[in-house]
Parts: sequence; C-alpha cells; structure tokens
Amino acid sequence: MVPMARKIETLFPLQGRMCWLIIILLLQPFHKGAALEYACNFDKDDNLKSMRFCDTSLSDEIRVFDLVSRLTLEEKVTQLVNTASAIPRLSIPAYEWWQEGLHGVAHVSFGGSLPRATSFPLPILTTASFNKDLWNQIGQVVSTEARAFYNDGIAGLTYWSPVINIARDPRWGRIQETSGEDPYTTSAYATHFVQGMQEGDANSKRLKLSACCKHFTAYDVDNWEGIDRYHFDAKVTLQDLADTYNPPFQSCVQEGRSASLMCSYNKVNGVPTCANYDFLENTVRRAWGLNGYIVSDCDSVLVMHESTNYAPTTEDAAADALNAGLDLNCGDYLASYTEGAVAMGKVNASRVDNAVYNVFLVRMRLGMFDGNPANQEFGNIGVADVCTPAHQELAVEAARQGIVLLKNDGNILPLSKNINTAVIGPNANATHTMLGNYEGIPCQYITPLQGLVKFGSGDYHKVWFSEGCVNTACQQDDQISSAVSTAAVADAVVLVVGLSQVQESEALDRTSLLLPGYQQTLIDEVAGAAAGRPVVLVLMCAGPVDINFAKNDKRIQSILWVGYPGQSGGQAIAEVIFGAHNPGGKLPMSWYPEDYTKISMTNMNMRPDSRSNYPGRTYRFYTGEKIYDFGYGLSYTEYKHSFALAPTTVMTPSIHSQLCDPHQTSAGSSLPCSQAHQETCSSSNFDVHINVENIGAMAGNHTLLLFFTAPSAGKNGTPLKQLAAFDSVYIRSGSQEKVVLTLNPCQHLGTVAEDGTRMLEAGNHILSVGDAKHSLSVLFSDTSGARY
Ligand SMILES: *[C@@H]1O[C@H](CO)[C@@H](O)[C@H](O)[C@H]1NC(C)=O
Ligand SMILES: *[C@@H]1O[C@H](CO)[C@@H](O)[C@H](O)[C@H]1NC(C)=O
Ligand SMILES: *[C@@H]1O[C@H](CO)[C@@H](O)[C@H](O)[C@H]1NC(C)=O
Repeated sequence: MVPMARKIETLFPLQGRMCWLIIILLLQPFHKGAALEYACNFDKDDNLKSMRFCDTSLSDEIRVFDLVSRLTLEEKVTQLVNTASAIPRLSIPAYEWWQEGLHGVAHVSFGGSLPRATSFPLPILTTASFNKDLWNQIGQVVSTEARAFYNDGIAGLTYWSPVINIARDPRWGRIQETSGEDPYTTSAYATHFVQGMQEGDANSKRLKLSACCKHFTAYDVDNWEGIDRYHFDAKVTLQDLADTYNPPFQSCVQEGRSASLMCSYNKVNGVPTCANYDFLENTVRRAWGLNGYIVSDCDSVLVMHESTNYAPTTEDAAADALNAGLDLNCGDYLASYTEGAVAMGKVNASRVDNAVYNVFLVRMRLGMFDGNPANQEFGNIGVADVCTPAHQELAVEAARQGIVLLKNDGNILPLSKNINTAVIGPNANATHTMLGNYEGIPCQYITPLQGLVKFGSGDYHKVWFSEGCVNTACQQDDQISSAVSTAAVADAVVLVVGLSQVQESEALDRTSLLLPGYQQTLIDEVAGAAAGRPVVLVLMCAGPVDINFAKNDKRIQSILWVGYPGQSGGQAIAEVIFGAHNPGGKLPMSWYPEDYTKISMTNMNMRPDSRSNYPGRTYRFYTGEKIYDFGYGLSYTEYKHSFALAPTTVMTPSIHSQLCDPHQTSAGSSLPCSQAHQETCSSSNFDVHINVENIGAMAGNHTLLLFFTAPSAGKNGTPLKQLAAFDSVYIRSGSQEKVVLTLNPCQHLGTVAEDGTRMLEAGNHILSVGDAKHSLSVLFSDTSGARY
C-alpha cells in the first residue's frame, strides 16, 4: 500500500496529502455539528425524490443500475479510483475509498473530537491465540470505531484489511500483518475477522463496514536483495497456488463474505495479478462468487506500464486491468486513461459500466444512498464509542492470549510480584514500536516498563531501567556497561529486545535472522551479570529471530515472544511475567536458524526439491533444523491429551464423477464444486473427542491443534502434516475437559494434486494432538476415484 519508489514516491504521496487536505478543509465545519454531506438528501435537492437510485423501496441492484445509467463515461471514470469525485448534478458527494483497519482504525484523519482509536496487537500475535471469537470481536470493535469516524464525517466505510497472504519466509517485512504460515489458520482468521468487521447483528440490513481480502496472490516479497514487489514475478506451481496461496482468499470471499478483494503488485507466472482474467474474473468473481469490488494495490495499474512495461501504453494498462475484472484503482490511472482506452477499442464501455456498478453496489450496501446516516442503523455510534474501557480491555486481552512462552527452565516464571527487577533493552520502554505498521493513534500506551512497574506489588517490588541500546539497530555498545550495572543490583532481570520497523516493514525484508547490532552482546553480558538469578528474555518482533544462543544458554531461563503487542502490550507482558495470566499462545510460524537465509527468498515453492537441495517451507514441508515449530508454546501448567472417542474408519461415497476444484485456480480442466458434491462430502462428517487433562498447578486456556498426516505424506508434494482443526478450552488445575471437533473428510483431510485439483486419499490417516495419535482409515464406497 505504500506508494512505490521513483516517480510515485514523489507524486503519489503528494496527491494523497492534497486529497486529505481537501477533505479536512471540507470537513472542518462539520466537526462543529453541522449537517454532513450525504447522497439522496431530499432537503437539499427535491429532484432526487424521483430518482430510482434514491428509492429505498427498490432492490439495491435496481437502484445501482439506475444510477449507472444516468452517468456519462466522463463521470463514470472518476468513480474508478480511490479518490472518487463528486457528481454534483446528482448530489453525490466525493468519496475516499482508502481506509485501513489491520489492527484498529488507521489511514484516517485523526483530530478534532476523534484524536485516537483503539490499537490492537498486530495480527501475527493475535493469531497466536488461535481464538476465532477473539478475532471476530476485534473485527467488531474496529468496525464500531470506524463507524464513529464515518458518522463524524472524518472517514469512509471501506477498509482495506485484513492481510491474508501466507508468511512462507521468515525474512518477509510484512509478517506482522499476516496470520503466519498456515493456510488453514489464515483462512479461519480471514473468515472470522471479516465477519466481525462487516456484519452488525442478525437483523442488520446493511453492511456495517466493508472489509478487503488482500493482497491476491502469491505476493510475499517486498524488497529483498534488489528484488522489489513491483518487479517480482512469482513463479508458482498450480499445486502451491491451490493449497497454500489461494485458500485464505477463497475463505475470505466465501465464508467471510468480504465485500472486496485487492490484487497485489507482483506478477504470477508472467502476468500481473491485477491483469489476470483467470484470477480476477474466473476465480474470484465466478468460481468463488465475490459479491463486491476488486481493487488494485496502490499503484498496481501504473506499475504495469511504468515499472515493468507489461503494458506498452498507459491505455493498455487501464484496459488490461479492467478487462481482467478490476473495478477500482488505488491511484489515478483508471480516471486518466480509461476514456482513451475505450476510444481506442481496448476496453468495452460495458466493462466500465460493470466496474462502476460493482463499486456503487458496495456503497449502496453500506447505506450511503439511504439518506441521512444519523437516522440509520449504525447512525447512533459516536465519539463515546471510541477508546471505550471495553475496547481497550480487548486490546490487552488479545495481547495476553497471543503471547507465547518459548522457554521456562525450572519454572522461573511467573516471577513473584514482590521482586526487585532490572528492565533492560531497546524495546523495554517501547511505545510506537508496539503498534507495528498500519497503525493509527492509540488511546494510550502501556509500555513494558510501565506494565512491570504497575503490575508488580509489595515491599520489595522495585524496578530499575536501562535501555542498553538506544534503538533496535543497536549499533553502539557504549550503554551496555550501564545495563550490566543495573542488572547486577536486581533480584531478577527482564530483557526486552527484538526488532522494529527499522528492520522489518513494508518495502523492507530482512537478510538476516539474527538480532541486530550489539543486541546479542547486550543479552550475553547482562545474563552474565545476573548469573544465578532469574533472567527473562522478551522478544518483541513479528518475524522469527535466530534465538538458538539464548535457547541453549542456562543463564537465560525464560523466553517470551510478544509480537508487536499493541497499545497496552506492556500490561499483558507484565501480567504474564507476574503470573496474573497463564500464557497459552502458540507460534503461528516456524522459527528457523540463520542458515535458512541461504535459500533464495524469491523461490515461491513450498515443496522441497532434492535436486537443488531446496529444503521447502513451513511445518508442512520443511524437514531441516528448526528452532521452534509451528504450534509451539508452553504454559505455566502442563496438559495431557488422549483420543477419547474417534472412528477408526470413515466411509466416503465415491466422488470421482464430480471432478471439481473448490480452490479453483487456473487449472483449466476442473469445474467449480457443485452443491451436490458439497453435500456428498458433508454426509461423511465425523466427531473426534479428545480428553485434555491439566496436570499442573495453574488453571489455563489451552489450545488444541489437531493435525493429520495423509497416507502419501512427504511424497508427491503431500504435506508432512497439516492442521485440520483447532479449539481452545479453559481447564482448572487437576481437571479434565473433553473437546469435540467435527471433521469433514473433504474439507479437513484433503490434499492437492500437482495439477491443482483437490483430492482425498484412501487409506490410513494419522490424527495427532500433542503426543496423542489416532489412526483413521478412509474408505471409498466405490474405489475407482479419490479426486473431487
Ligand atoms: C467488446 O465486446 C464485443 C462484443 O461482446 C466483443 O466481441 C469484443 O471482444 C469486446 N472487446 C474487448 C476489447 O473486450
Ligand atoms: C518510558 O516511556 C514513556 C512514554 O514515552 C515516558 O514518558 C517515560 O519517561 C519513559 N521512561 C523512562 C524511564 O525513560
Ligand atoms: C480464557 O479465555 C476466555 C475467552 O476466550 C477468557 O474470557 C478467559 O479470561 C480466559 N481465561 C484465562 C485463565 O486465561
């Protein structure tokens, strides 16, 4: 979303700023309570009463059709860009499509009566909770606060979140925005977050907000060793596309019911994603049935012509994008060059109509043509609904539930609240760093230092602070000696180190997994000074770091990963350290050693290749050395799992006659799955009952991750194992709970063949949770086929 280098770097942000300036100027008087400008305002224009697009008794489709039919081509093209112009003769106000809601309201003009918004942890940490309800609740809060900004005239209702690309490489600068490396987890995150954002309650007639599934597809490289996302041509196999890169987008569109999808900057197999008819029109709109608009990243259409020369002329770029099925251009190309492209016969006027229809239909579904917003369903949401105690508490809760305990030798954690503590490190008093990227202005901050001061107690509770390094780059070692002296006087040491946007961010991938600069020296010397006393290492970062040295260091008993934990991250960290919260987060990514950086970041293959010594990626395929596995995470208690009740065979009707591809990609031969097929498969649902016993001394929320291993695991590109389901359960110390997971053979045990079609293998599948395993045999009533 950050405008690209060169020309756009100078031109586009300026344009952005000018646009905000104009909006701010326009909106200034309205902060004082004057009437907002809205479409179909009969008080303002009596003629509107007779226009069908303003008639709320008609269907949205008829209304939008009427609206589009009134527009000239010149007017239409002004609606195909993020800063859509007003159409004065129909009293339709200008509209800015670009808002962000990755982990709180952002990319809006904070100020006046709305200077702040709740800032949640970055999704990579929130995902570590494996809590679907939490994801949904965060979506709801973002959309409630977004409505307040809209009702105050500050921002629109179209938010370009969430980011659901697969974090397949630990170096990627945007891991913070993602839900990690697993397609199943990312699909679930997309579904629940988007539903939370968009859907009010069961009675809502209008979308509360419009979300956006981005960036479609196989993106995952920002700027690595001279290769940037604008020029990157991702070489992707049909198999990887179908079972890794695309499933989150399909879930986001189909189960999440997202009103929008964004295509990325990169090419896939030679074609820019925003110019790929097979992707946008065939897959997203037809096969998946997107009800909404497709938007380009900023400024993907320009990139096609000016960066890569994929499109020889500006009009070709506009035509390529429109003909592929793009409806809205973040940027200005479609406003500037669509009329020319139509005149030259490069694009049909009917496709322009269709794009304009798609964008207005979403504005209609948001209630923007239903008269005064104040009189509508979400019209009463206001300033008092932003930064509420409940919203801010949810931000803390998300951080609590996400934090992952990686090491706890001798159960050093939790620390007594009544202890002298030295708090050391470049992230120890972090504020803005806790917000990662795509951040708004938070309601408040609670830094780790402030949290440890506030949530400890007792006569001996005292906190000393030493930065150790001025920032995460840690280029100088001159403050290490003072950190060492601080550590020497305390009864316990909490080191808060890690990364920040300086090392990992949009447009910046890492080239090393090591902690930057002198951080390791700092940790080593502080641990030496604190020998014999508790040393807790807190890693504030999104992408994994090579932490082998600390994992193997007996002087460092405990390690916590806290992601970028949001506005009140310090509270959650302190509550975990002092035992007010029992950590239950699980890593959503594999942690690799530095050695992993030998492989090219641009290799998009998920599967290993022995001929080239390519080790493959993620827990599903990689067999090399890891520091921590996907799903790893300790607790202050211990859990024991056993399969209580589960079938040993499952009989599935043969489905070979309905060859289809639910994750339909460019595989030409496959058909979309029919209703009949879905039903055939769902008739084979079965339950798995798992007993979980808390055999430790503390109550906790425990996440069960149920994996399956298919008969051909490790061969023909079949994953070594694959997450099939997950759920959390609260268990008191000494108690046992039963968790029931319902599985569907096709949905949860399917694999993908080399040509991209999904299949279910006959034979022995191993289900596993923790150390517990269960054997399940899949049989077909007709043995002739397993593909579906
Ligand atoms: C315009 O529409 C006509 C009729 O459907 C079609 O034959 C032609 O290929 C279209 N042109 C473009 C550039 O899509
Ligand atoms: C920690 O950060 C807060 C917020 O920026 C600041 O007010 C405070 O002075 C800092 N504390 C120390 C000890 O530097
Ligand atoms: C367990 O999770 C629920 C919601 O998911 C939360 O309300 C509760 O506080 C959690 N309990 C503990 C001990 O973490």
